[in-house]
Amino acid sequence: MTKGIPYLTSRQLVWMIAILTPVILVACGGGASGSDSQFPIAVTDQRVTVGEQVYAVNCSQCHGQIGSSPALPGSPSHAEDGHTWHHADRHLFQWILDRPPLAQLMPAFRGTLSDEEVSSVIAYIKSNWPSDIRERQNDLSRLIEQQLIEDALR
Ligand code: HEC
Repeated sequence: MTKGIPYLTSRQLVWMIAILTPVILVACGGGASGSDSQFPIAVTDQRVTVGEQVYAVNCSQCHGQIGSSPALPGSPSHAEDGHTWHHADRHLFQWILDRPPLAQLMPAFRGTLSDEEVSSVIAYIKSNWPSDIRERQNDLSRLIEQQLIEDALR
């Protein structure tokens, strides 16, 4: 070891990572623990009201009204007969901001919608699902957050 350079032992490094990772995750708004974590997105009356307007202005011209057929053929349904609820909130959030993987028509909304507006539109979509589906999708959203923390600590 060269004199003067502060090398860390691997034990110290493991401790630093173990202590810093949750701090960084929480600081970035991605923490899964605690009731204030961003995902699963909390469905509040306020968000559902805002989300319904955001949806009407930005989404319904393709996806149609939730529960009726799409306005633009090929746009997936967000109702319980679709597969939106097969995905975790974290992924829906990212996809609405930056487009779903391999998307051809779906535009990105980064720069058009704020993070809170995206959360609101997801809350509105979720509010249309029956409670059992909402619960399953919330479980999935929690699982993905847990997985992220475990991967980060690995
Ligand atoms: C120009 C038409 C169009 C608009 C506007 C649009 N979408 Fe899409 N969306 C699509 C299409 C088509 C797909 C399927 C992927 C593809 O081919 O682009 C898709 C895919 C998605 C998906 C992933 C598939 C799923 O449901 O799991 C989500 C989530 C989604 N859109 C949500 C939204 C939301 C929320 C808005 C409004 C903020 C919106 N879209 C606006 C056309 C659109």
